[in-house]
Amino acid sequence: MNKLQWIKRSAAAIVIVASSIMTATSVAASEDKALIDPRNDAYEQQHPDQYHSWRATSESDGIDDALADDPDMVILWAGYGFAKDYNKARGHFYALDDVRQTLRTGGPTDENSGPMPMACWSCKSPDVGRVIDEQGEDGYFSGKWARGGEQIVNPIGCADCHDTRSEGFKNGEPALALAKPYVERAFTAIDKPFDQQSRLDQQASVCGQCHVEYYFTGPTKAVKFPWDKGTTVGAMEEYYDEIGFKDWTHKVSKAPMLKAQHPGYETWRDGIHGKNKVACVDCHMPKVTKEDGTVYTDHKVGNPFDRFEDTCANCHTQSKDQMLEIVNTRKAQVLNMKLTAEKQIVAAHFEAGAAWEAGATDAEMAEILQDIRHAQWRWDYAIASHGVHMHAPEVALEVLGTAVDKAADARTKLVRLLAKKGITDPIEMPDISTKAKAQQALGMDMDKMNSEKKHFLDTVVPQWEEKAEKREAQY
Ligand code: HEC
Ligand code: HEC
Ligand code: HEC
Ligand code: HEC
Repeated sequence: MNKLQWIKRSAAAIVIVASSIMTATSVAASEDKALIDPRNDAYEQQHPDQYHSWRATSESDGIDDALADDPDMVILWAGYGFAKDYNKARGHFYALDDVRQTLRTGGPTDENSGPMPMACWSCKSPDVGRVIDEQGEDGYFSGKWARGGEQIVNPIGCADCHDTRSEGFKNGEPALALAKPYVERAFTAIDKPFDQQSRLDQQASVCGQCHVEYYFTGPTKAVKFPWDKGTTVGAMEEYYDEIGFKDWTHKVSKAPMLKAQHPGYETWRDGIHGKNKVACVDCHMPKVTKEDGTVYTDHKVGNPFDRFEDTCANCHTQSKDQMLEIVNTRKAQVLNMKLTAEKQIVAAHFEAGAAWEAGATDAEMAEILQDIRHAQWRWDYAIASHGVHMHAPEVALEVLGTAVDKAADARTKLVRLLAKKGITDPIEMPDISTKAKAQQALGMDMDKMNSEKKHFLDTVVPQWEEKAEKREAQY
């Protein structure tokens, strides 16, 4: 770390803090109760640099099938939507396309059918904040996912991170804001109410609206962050255990499972940059200077290495190649531990399945299933926080280490239990060497799911779009 650059940055931060105090007062002075405009295009003329760089997230358009890369994950998620399909993240611009296209949201034929609740829209669109503003949280959350199709139509954008109605924003100030009340409550639960956060904290918190762990709860299946005891893997595990929550029952082992979402904010906090208050924005949304000397925030959220000079090089003197080598080494280490952990957990699921078949009782299985639940939760917490090998590799490796340990506990107990039931040979596993074979081993009817999805995309989605167009024409 170059001291001079660090001092320069701190000086810049003081200027920024001073200007943000002014921002806060100007926001308060202009209580404007107009409706939230969720349309990203509506801000193009006001803020062309931010709009065009935001739009450029559409350049990250590759679809990368995570299950094809690693078919073990089909088994880990057996009985749950993620076993159907799971693509790696791409540009914010595609968030809505992707939630419509994934097999996880199924092929609803009307607003009351399909597997998912309304909550599934929550991190995809500024229309979510708009609908909550207009109908309250209960109004937004109640019902099935398909009910929201004609309302939630603009991909992640301006009104997700800004108070677009404030005078400050209109004048070109950031006016950062949280778009959803349940996020406000979560930050308050960890003693960080948003309006009392520093500007640097707020810059990370706007990303933490979505890049976090959350679950669905209550009669409307509303979003909640499990942060009441803290944000570490252990604190959240304890929270879930205490309220007896499970996302689903595993199809093979019958374990009461947790699905980690993407606790990127939580793992970043515990990493070296988070501890030094280097926010998501410092690397993913750098300030850039135009030819005419004016400065703006680059809204093309993507890989910071694509613009190394404006990101890492602001604080570090190493070359891009040196930094890439460090990060790639860590990536390989995390991947290796991930695969080690999942081999153990997959085996534990099949062995538990065999124990049930051999007549094991609930009492005999209880502790084993708890070990499997904890092992997989830890594996998932580490790997589902995308970019963790960069943000907090030591956290990922430690957590994956505990996942291996818990899976080993389960398997030791299983060997004994199976022996008690007269089974001493190793449990045979089906062929799960490809995504298709793993899905077949679980008896999943992929043809049916794919044709239902196609029917939905061909018939239901065009109706949603037509209705939304009419509605938005009245803005
Ligand atoms: C994912 C969150 C996010 C989204 C989406 C987003 N912004 Fe921003 N925006 C930020 C952050 C973070 C900053 C910098 C805040 C700071 O400097 O403290 C910023 C800064 C700004 C600023 C202040 C001037 C500047 O460039 O620093 C304007 C104006 C702005 N954004 C407009 C927009 C517009 C218009 C859109 C939609 C096309 C948009 N933003 C979408 C997070 C977002
Ligand atoms: C409203 C929810 C939301 C907010 C706010 C948000 N993200 Fe995202 N982000 C997503 C979703 C959803 C995806 C995956 C989109 C897809 O694959 O369709 C994503 C994808 C990404 C990616 C992968 C991009 C790529 O091209 O591969 C990065 C990096 C990222 N987000 C960083 C950030 C940062 C940094 C912030 C804060 C400045 C932020 N996000 C704010 C929901 C959000
Ligand atoms: C010190 C710089 C830095 C900070 C701070 C940082 N990131 Fe990252 N992030 C990166 C880099 C670099 C990568 C890509 C690593 C790679 O190429 O393997 C990345 C990857 C990601 C990815 C995965 C993208 C993908 O396509 O898989 C997401 C999502 C993400 N970051 C979100 C965030 C969020 C949210 C925060 C704050 C809570 C944050 N990052 C803070 C540097 C940073
Ligand atoms: C805003 C300043 C800032 C930016 C931008 C930044 N870093 Fe850092 N980085 C730090 C600070 C502060 C530390 C803490 C250690 C220190 O004082 O040197 C650190 C530490 C590190 C370390 C050593 C700690 C460890 O994990 O072993 C690496 C590697 C690193 N950064 C990589 C990167 C990469 C890669 C990027 C760009 C994607 C980046 N940093 C962007 C400020 C920054």
